[in-house]
Amino acid sequence: MQGRERKLISIVKAETTAMNGQNMIIELRSDTFTLPTQEMLAAIARAKLGNDGYGEDPTVRELEDLAALKLGKEAACLMPSGTMANLASVSAYCQGKKGIVLVGDKSDIYVYESDGSVLCPAITYVPIGTEDDGTLRTGDLERAFRKYHSRIALVCLENPHNLCGGVILPPNHLQDIAMLVHARGASVHLDGARIFNAAIASRTNPARLVEFADSIQFCLSKGLSAPVGSMVAGSIRFITRVREIRKIVGGTMRQAGIIAAPGIVALQQMVDRLEEDHLNARRFAEGLSAIPGIYINLNTVQTNTVVFQVAQNRFMSEGFVTAAGEYGIHLSEFEYGRIRAVIHRNITPIHIEKALEGIARLLATESIGSATTSV
Ligand SMILES: Cc1ncc(COP(=O)(O)O)c(C=O)c1O
Repeated sequence: MQGRERKLISIVKAETTAMNGQNMIIELRSDTFTLPTQEMLAAIARAKLGNDGYGEDPTVRELEDLAALKLGKEAACLMPSGTMANLASVSAYCQGKKGIVLVGDKSDIYVYESDGSVLCPAITYVPIGTEDDGTLRTGDLERAFRKYHSRIALVCLENPHNLCGGVILPPNHLQDIAMLVHARGASVHLDGARIFNAAIASRTNPARLVEFADSIQFCLSKGLSAPVGSMVAGSIRFITRVREIRKIVGGTMRQAGIIAAPGIVALQQMVDRLEEDHLNARRFAEGLSAIPGIYINLNTVQTNTVVFQVAQNRFMSEGFVTAAGEYGIHLSEFEYGRIRAVIHRNITPIHIEKALEGIARLLATESIGSATTSV
């Protein structure tokens, strides 16, 4: 970055500091930055604990029952992370046979997690093109079933779809895909890391939203603000297999009630407030759309994720993210030369306003191009 730009940024930073009386960091990289609430910390302190490896932690049992109930499934299982929850789920369908798993080419499971299949050689991922709205085309799936027949064990969907900008799957998509898949003897797993965002945004009961999925994973540690953990839900038989795989991959925890206690608070107290995050995301997106030099498709802003571009090529966005970081606005580079902001509990309308001001000023420093290429 050139000296003049550095100086300008420090002037704006000083102004922002003067306005706020403090150094305001606006953390928009992910909703995984949320810290546990006071109620969560209190719940941890009073949690009844036991050895979950023996199925004897009462707080874990309570969380698992609550998660199963909320999602209308027979059983649920606490996992350390969404990645392990997806891996154990996919692996459970492929156990004892070579299983082909059809998965969207922009899905989190395929893009970020498929390396995990080296640990479970029974899994073979076959990517299917993802539409802009996060859906898979039925024609593509039918073609894959004609090609691989009964070797296909599973089809995965994602809702909301992260790489498509946090968009919510159209209402009947899961049902349509499930009918096609079940008729061919395979199963459907839903990566619903932020399924409660989808439920709140679409004003749909979460159980209704996942009704046609054989299994689902969701994260407690994203917008729901719990410090750790994800849940897998499905039939009793399926969850028994997931527990076995969880043990094999080292995911069985002991006094895990410490993790489950804030998870219960997350499910009881943090779901309805996601609406606030969605409103702030919309506020941020609309503000961005009014800034010259920003390209944003407002139609994709459906939950707490805001994806936008400042320029066509990837290096420009890389530099922009670095420069915004200098202002205390933490954004992340997203795939395909895009930038992602995720709104969460710690982001208020004041943060949104400050972030928009900072971004507008940054872009107004006429030489963002040279700033970005020289960083
Ligand atoms: C859609 C989706 N699935 C799965 C995961 C993985 O969750 P974790 O970070 O808990 O492993 C993420 C993480 O951001 C995600 O966005």
